[in-house]
Amino acid sequence: MSNFYDQLSPFYHVIFENWDASIERQGSNLKRIIQSNWPEYQTVLDVSCGIGTQAIGLSRNGYQVTASDLSANEVERAKHEAQRHGQTNISFSVCDMRTAFAHHGGPFDIVISCDNSIPHLLTDDDILSTLKQMYSCLRPGGGCLITIRDYDQEQRGGKNIIKPYGKAKIENGKRYVPLQVWDFDESDDQYYDFTLYLIEEDLHSKEIITHAMRSRYYAIQSEKLIKLMHDAGFEKITRLNEGFYQPVYIGTRPSN
Ligand SMILES: C[S@@+](CC[C@H](N)C(=O)[O-])C[C@H]1O[C@@H](n2cnc3c(N)ncnc32)[C@H](O)[C@@H]1O
Repeated sequence: MSNFYDQLSPFYHVIFENWDASIERQGSNLKRIIQSNWPEYQTVLDVSCGIGTQAIGLSRNGYQVTASDLSANEVERAKHEAQRHGQTNISFSVCDMRTAFAHHGGPFDIVISCDNSIPHLLTDDDILSTLKQMYSCLRPGGGCLITIRDYDQEQRGGKNIIKPYGKAKIENGKRYVPLQVWDFDESDDQYYDFTLYLIEEDLHSKEIITHAMRSRYYAIQSEKLIKLMHDAGFEKITRLNEGFYQPVYIGTRPSN
């Protein structure tokens, strides 16, 4: 799986219309959610930071951020991007979120995993143990915040399902056209293989290269994720349907 993101890392921003604007928007949206649920909290651990979208956004909003990801290439790029955005205080490292507490310890005020990272974990056991690790990283009263694709609304089952993915984008004389294809398992429509095709066309030479990156997702639905958060020990679990571009699941570690 880290192979998918290691491959995607240099192109990650091109699947956004304007990645820098997304950093700003997501940072301020997450700040609003954090402030209304856990006011005064300052330290954030991002356990699936990718190239830094939320980590940099929150750091720009005054949070003290620690961030990690399974993909070493993404973490390298995140360090570079954080410098470019003037956020030199973020501590980055490579870590599998299933071992977040063993790697990071704690306590942090807030722990986050955003933009459909959790569904890369393919079993309930893996998701539950990750949620327990996130829980352990928190101080009593600390907040967990997860965002995932709204699988309650997505088609389930079928193959060769083409999904639009961002918009075509021109950068440095090249046009990039991203496209996703989903293939659900025949025996279990909770799982699908995912191929991201990124067509790169040199507008001068007309040369075209297609990058194909493959991964797999567990199309986990709200009820299951909420149950697993509950089983991990969180309380006040809520799904927020507004304020972010994906549903946001929040839960709080009990105070004692
Ligand atoms: C869709 S990306 C989102 C990245 C980032 N949060 C963002 O929005 O830009 C999903 C991320 O989950 C990470 N990921 C998947 N499985 C992981 C694991 N077991 N531990 C840590 N990160 C993981 C991937 O490497 C990837 O960076």
